[in-house]
Amino acid sequence: MATHPLATDVDGAAAAGRPRPAVTGPAAHGAGSILIDRVSIEFDAARLLVVDDVSLEIKAGEFVSIVGPSGCGKTTLLNLAAGLLPAEVARGTMLVGGKPPRKGNRDIAYMLARDALSPWRTALGNAELGAEIRGVPAGERRTHARELLDRVGLKGFEDTYPKALSQGMRQRVALARTFALDSPILLMDEPFGALDAQTKLQLEDVLLGLWQQQKRTVVFITHDLSEAVSMSDRVVVMSPRPARIIADIDIPLERPRSVRALQKDPLFHRIYAEVWARLEEGLTA
Ligand SMILES: Nc1ncnc2c1ncn2[C@@H]1O[C@H](COP(=O)(O)OP(=O)(O)OP(=O)(O)O)[C@@H](O)[C@H]1O
Ligand SMILES: [Mg+2]
Repeated sequence: MATHPLATDVDGAAAAGRPRPAVTGPAAHGAGSILIDRVSIEFDAARLLVVDDVSLEIKAGEFVSIVGPSGCGKTTLLNLAAGLLPAEVARGTMLVGGKPPRKGNRDIAYMLARDALSPWRTALGNAELGAEIRGVPAGERRTHARELLDRVGLKGFEDTYPKALSQGMRQRVALARTFALDSPILLMDEPFGALDAQTKLQLEDVLLGLWQQQKRTVVFITHDLSEAVSMSDRVVVMSPRPARIIADIDIPLERPRSVRALQKDPLFHRIYAEVWARLEEGLTA
């Protein structure tokens, strides 16, 4: 840990007397938590400041959405958490499950907008792929993957190849694969961004169902405010690049929720309007 620039900078910040963020306690450091403390990301080659002094604390089991204009730095922040960026581009402190980010961190499962399924593997083969790479025994991972395919509504399609699945079905497989990893932290970058409205609503409810049952930590990037508000405990609103946090809004909707049912709930629409107003404020500031 001491060798990681992101980690050593904590001590640097303390020694330099710079203010340290309000870190509320062990919840910010334990398994499943993410702590982002005064993190800036600058791509030196392009001299491009992408993330500017961002602090954010996500507790284990929370569902947090991040919204913000295109190109502001949302994916970059997730990539840093997943250990996919060279440490030297970042300043500040990031702790993922209490440790500096690193590539291949088993605490993290990362799901993207494009399903990225292997075309030569069946739905089952794809659903179990991550677990296979992590060395989970065949019987165990296959049973788990089958259960998850059932949960995402793909019972009967276990032996079907991606080319014979619709885009929504492929994204269901990707969702099953993400949950099959058993990682406490799920990073999801616009996972339903390419889907039609109906399929999206269905998959949002599938995701909420899985999350409500298993309580993983979810960091969910989306351009769809309705999606963010309906699923999340908190919605974090970011400014145009360089990304700063301009609002961090609690979503006081009861759990368990159904995204479909919320579409008719006046409280949901009031909260949606508030988040929208905060986003607009940031865009015009
Ligand atoms: N490896 C990199 N090297 C240089 N610049 C990069 C790199 N990765 C991202 N950027 C730049 O950082 C900025 C933010 O990109 P990022 O992908 O994080 O945006 P985003 O908020 O996810 O946008 P979108 O909503 O469109 O997905 C962009 O200007 C992009 O060109
Ligand atoms: Mg992005």
